[in-house]
Amino acid sequence: MTTTVTNETLAKAPALEDYFGLSDAELHERIEAARKRLGKRLVILGHHYQRDDVIRHADLTGDSFKLSMQASKRPEAEFIVFCGVHFMAESADILSAPEQKVILPDLGAGCSMADMATAEQVEDAWEQLQSVGILDDFKVMPITYMNSSAAIKAFCGKHDGVVCTSSNAAPLFDKSLKEADKLFFFPDQHLGRNTGVRFGIPLEQMRLWDPDKELGGNTAEELRDARLILWKGHCSVHGRFRPWHVDQVRAEVPGIKVLVHPECIKEVVEKSDLNGSTEFIIKTLEAAPAGSSWAVGTEVNLVNRLVARFPEKHIRLLSPDLCMCATMYRIAPQNLAWTLESLVAGRVVNQIVVPAEIARWARVALDRMLAIK
Ligand code: 13P
Ligand code: SF4
Repeated sequence: MTTTVTNETLAKAPALEDYFGLSDAELHERIEAARKRLGKRLVILGHHYQRDDVIRHADLTGDSFKLSMQASKRPEAEFIVFCGVHFMAESADILSAPEQKVILPDLGAGCSMADMATAEQVEDAWEQLQSVGILDDFKVMPITYMNSSAAIKAFCGKHDGVVCTSSNAAPLFDKSLKEADKLFFFPDQHLGRNTGVRFGIPLEQMRLWDPDKELGGNTAEELRDARLILWKGHCSVHGRFRPWHVDQVRAEVPGIKVLVHPECIKEVVEKSDLNGSTEFIIKTLEAAPAGSSWAVGTEVNLVNRLVARFPEKHIRLLSPDLCMCATMYRIAPQNLAWTLESLVAGRVVNQIVVPAEIARWARVALDRMLAIK
């Protein structure tokens, strides 16, 4: 179906406030009706941390790596509505065709970890490495986690660097450690450190870079000796899982397996049985035998869904606290209904557009990532 945009349909374009008084059932019905009207022109992508009343409307679900691939594989969709956070929508915009429009149903859905590194801070850090001769004497490869701004991805593209996700950090480190003397990893120190440990890099050769301190709080000598420089960023959701949670759950349930996301601190990852991306967590639990027990260290919306999906397996959140990503939660059915009905009325709201020059270089870093198997 093609929507003909007339002044009349535009006049009918809704306002977000109109949706807040609607019942859950009405929102659900209206979202489904709008999806039907938009047909193949629309694809809704949903990250695994989205709430149930949103993820149920997604055409495709996935971790940030899988969704970034999907964004580049649905050329027929004029609108990509991304139920996730800002950096994911930016990546979708970069990877999709120029005529496709990427929409984030709530512009406030950011990622506090991604916000811990700005492109200006990263440029400044690079200049500081240059000022002490490190960039002249060593090949330093910048690697940014997907959870970062498009501008930082572009920085990596320009400086022979690459993007990684929690799905492919290991193969990417493997390749990059062979090509460079040092890796500079933004912005998640924990994914960086956990992956560095996997490759046997001693902790003394991992230096933390604090953007508020000169040379990141290191001496030039320490940076010369480093193999891995880790930006001082973290995820406040995964940071809530503590080593004692693992001890406690093991004491309570003998034989329980602990499965966590690599954004957790090293001490938690080391005490766990397995760690990996949200997609890995789901696949592991799909394959787990009935009757097996699991404590899962990741976002609560995903864990609750897994608990409901596999009643024959004993799955629980690793921590008794509520580990919820508040910014993911901002994408509510009200935002989704408003976004879709606006499209039906011929108005594109909340479009995410990465400026062309940034997109060009960010694409270089993303393409390098996608080329790694
Ligand atoms: P995934 O890459 O596993 O989807 O994780 C993204 C994220 O934001 C986890 O906090
Ligand atoms: Fe960002 Fe953490 Fe939320 Fe993931 S869970 S989007 S890293 S704040």
